Amino acid sequence: MKPWETVERAEVPDVGEVVLARRDEEYVLRVRGQTLMSSRQHGSERAMAEAGCANLAADAPARVLVGGLGFGFTVRAVLDRLGPGSRIVVAELISPVVEWNRGVLAPLAKAPLEDPRVTVVEGDVGKVMRRQQGAFDAILLDVDNGPTALTHPDNDSLYDIAGVSHAFNSLRSNGTLVVWSAGPSLAFVKRLEEVGFSVQLLHPTAHGTKGTRHTLFVARRASKAKSPSSSRPPSRR
Ligand SMILES: C[S@@+](CC[C@H](N)C(=O)[O-])C[C@H]1O[C@@H](n2cnc3c(N)ncnc32)[C@H](O)[C@@H]1O
Repeated sequence: MKPWETVERAEVPDVGEVVLARRDEEYVLRVRGQTLMSSRQHGSERAMAEAGCANLAADAPARVLVGGLGFGFTVRAVLDRLGPGSRIVVAELISPVVEWNRGVLAPLAKAPLEDPRVTVVEGDVGKVMRRQQGAFDAILLDVDNGPTALTHPDNDSLYDIAGVSHAFNSLRSNGTLVVWSAGPSLAFVKRLEEVGFSVQLLHPTAHGTKGTRHTLFVARRASKAKSPSSSRPPSRR
């Protein structure tokens, strides 16, 4: 089999070595030697966009937060579902990933960053959620292997009770949070329910109709919080 060819490489503060490698038509993104994603497996990225945008009216302007960018498949799938007045904020922790998406990776998802509806924030998606309360109709989180951080240890704070509370508060009423994961986690479902989400699990295939199944936590925010305290971070049980 052909060896992988390193296309780009960067040393990123607080993250470590990030490598973009290619073999034939396939690209992979590696963080500290571990593969974070492959361009061959993006079925569940499309499913994320479908689940997150399912409740949005086609003709009403929507505001969607996507974290992180990866190869841009989720952003493209969201753009394909939204009208001209909608806005997508993409938060990406690793600046070179943004640069590569504007260059060598752009054709993979038909250059989503060139769409005027897209704004890129280079930084932590958790910070965007904390800063922007009641701002989004949908938040799509695909930053790791799921509720276990891989890219950065600080990502654990996206999935703990305070993290899911920030996501809840960053959504508009009736908004939807979708979290990508390599596998299910009952503890994470309970945490989402604890802050007031109603949760459904989807298991899309990674590639076409075959192959590995991933998990999507689809968490809908009711128009009103369950109780006056449910939108604040409760203590861990
Ligand atoms: C698996 S990829 C996302 C794939 C993406 N859904 C797509 O369509 O290509 C994960 C991305 O999240 C980024 N990331 C990791 N932690 C992040 C954070 N805390 N905030 C924003 N982006 C983050 C990584 O650098 C990487 O680009």
